[in-house]
Order: sequence, then C-alpha cells, then structure tokens
Amino acid sequence: MALLGLGAGGAGLAFVLSAGFSARDEPTAVEAFVARRLRNFSIPREHRDARNPVALTPVVLARAREHFADHCASCHGNDGRGQTTLGRNLYPKAPDMQLADTQGLPDGHLFWIIKNGVRLTGMPAWGEDTPEDDSTTWELVHFIRHLPKLTPEELAEMREFNPRGRRDWEAAEAERRFLEGGEVAPAPPSSHAGH
Ligand code: HEC
Repeated sequence: MALLGLGAGGAGLAFVLSAGFSARDEPTAVEAFVARRLRNFSIPREHRDARNPVALTPVVLARAREHFADHCASCHGNDGRGQTTLGRNLYPKAPDMQLADTQGLPDGHLFWIIKNGVRLTGMPAWGEDTPEDDSTTWELVHFIRHLPKLTPEELAEMREFNPRGRRDWEAAEAERRFLEGGEVAPAPPSSHAGH
C-alpha cells in the first residue's frame, strides 16, 4: 500500500514537472505510466532536447540497419515491434517502437536511452562514452525513426545480419575487428561500403 502511494505520488510529481504531457503517453497500466514518467524525468533536459548531429544519408541508414539487426533485434526484432522470444518475455517487455509512444520521443531521449540503458529493465547500455560510439548511437536514432517505413527488402537484408548463435556472433565480431583494424579486406561485402 505504501508502495502504491509512493508510486502514485511519483506519477503525480512527474506529471506536474514534465513539460509537454501528451495523450500519446496514455499508459495501459499505472505501473507502466509511473515507470515511463520516472524514466523521462531521469533524463537531464539538455540531453533530452539534443538534436541529432549526424546527417541522415543512405550510407548512415544502411549501417545503422546492420547494427540494429546485429545488436538489437534479438529483443526488439528487425522491425522494432519487439515480437521476439526475448522481447516478449522481458519485464517490462520490449515495446513496439513503430508506435507513437516511441516515435513521439525526442531524438535526444532515444539517444540517452540507447547510450545509458533503462535501469531495472532488460534494456542494456550500449557503447563507451566516446565520440565514435556516440556517433553510432545517433545513427541508431535515425534507424529507429525509420522503423515505421521499413521495406520488405530492407527486412530481408537485415536477416542476414541477425546473429544466429555464439559461433556466428564470434565470426561477426572478428569481421568487425578486422574491418576496424583497417587491414585490406579481400573484397568486403557491398553492404559494408562506407565503413
Ligand atoms: C536484452 C534485450 C534488449 C536488447 C538487446 C536491446 N534492448 Fe532496447 N529495450 C529493451 C527493453 C526491455 C526496453 C523497454 C524498457 C522500458 O520499458 O523502459 C527497451 C527500450 C528501448 C528503447 C526505448 C523505447 C521506448 O519507447 O521505451 C529504445 C530506443 C531502445 N530500446 C533501443 C535499443 C537499441 C538501439 C538496441 C541495440 C543497440 C537495443 N535497444 C537493444 C530490451 C533490449
């Protein structure tokens, strides 16, 4: 009961303090509402309002798509709808990121979540605090914006980058290190153009 009171108080506080409350944030449960409000509240305003510094180009989008297929799709699914075994069974579940609840979040908010993760949920923090990793994260923000417009061709391409098991993952990691090492790769696949 005390917990419920605390939760309701937190929700009320977050409600009052949050700028731009919108009907899009309508929760399906008090718990989800409180969690989301508190999460929102925990992001410093200057970060939430940050604009995406990475220009959106086809190369950037292709790279982010691969990255997402490789690192994020196990929970979120290639289409971002969260309909994976992992995504469905986490608590809280991986959300449908094509919907307004996610698409309505500012770029800086998405960036912050990817970089820092979400405490007490399955969402991990990604990358190091370096300009390179920040740039990769901003590219992922572009991809998340693109989710509602994904084409069947893009989805088919992404499936090639989904890790299938530990061995696959290791092979992908080895390839990534190889590519990052700047060694002369023997005819890298065309989808790596721009790396
Ligand atoms: C191990 C599972 C898992 C992986 C892997 C994962 N996520 Fe998540 N993610 C989650 C869960 C669970 C949530 C919901 C957290 C919450 O309810 O606050 C989430 C939430 C998010 C959100 C916030 C969406 C919203 O509306 O609440 C974004 C953006 C996101 N993830 C992006 C990513 C990206 C990009 C990657 C890959 C770099 C990734 N995630 C990898 C589990 C995962």
